[in-house]
Amino acid sequence: MKKGLFITFEGADGCGKTTQLNLLKEYLIDMGCNVLVTREPGAKGLGERLRDILLNYDGEVSDRCESFLFLADRAQHIDTIVKPALDLGQIVLCDRHTDSTVAYQGYGRGLDIEQINRLNNIATDGLKPDLTLVFDVDIETSMQRVGGEKDRMESSGDEFFNKVRYGYLEIAKKEPQRVKVIDATKPIEDVFEQVLTVFKTFEQ
Ligand code: TYD
Repeated sequence: MKKGLFITFEGADGCGKTTQLNLLKEYLIDMGCNVLVTREPGAKGLGERLRDILLNYDGEVSDRCESFLFLADRAQHIDTIVKPALDLGQIVLCDRHTDSTVAYQGYGRGLDIEQINRLNNIATDGLKPDLTLVFDVDIETSMQRVGGEKDRMESSGDEFFNKVRYGYLEIAKKEPQRVKVIDATKPIEDVFEQVLTVFKTFEQ
């Protein structure tokens, strides 16, 4: 049975979620918590190979194949890293998870959302995050933060990223209990204040 806490960090590329994840990690460690930081795609081992294909493969990748590669990475990640950590009572902070597939492959690439939800459910074996933070930022700001060198996913264009952003906001509307939207256009300290407010409210 699950004992720990599973918190996921989501948002379009360049939204600043990784910086915020690390700030929350430091905060929790200072509070004496046992924290595990991990990510999708590519936590370690097989995941790193899948990540390399997903971000760097320069041949054709069909949208369905892309989805299955993310889902394969997720199944491995849940089984070998996330579940064991939760069973030990750890707080798991995960950089991207199921909502990325809904936002990117569903809303972004246009695959069927309900089908992705079902596939996500299979990949996670039914495990759901306790809390999800969506870092919302306009596309101009996020692409500025990404910079000049873009990987395969980051090269998908503004129209794609507008759909991804819209997708995340729709997910938050559908699951307001689990998913909280953070205004990520603000300076790092202001964003972290929002993160802490959400976290403390959630803890009570
Ligand atoms: P990454 O370098 O980890 O991006 P970021 O630092 O922004 O998290 O690359 C992961 C990329 O993969 C990112 O563009 C989002 C994308 N992605 C999907 O399209 N679907 C998914 O299910 C996941 C987990 C990630």
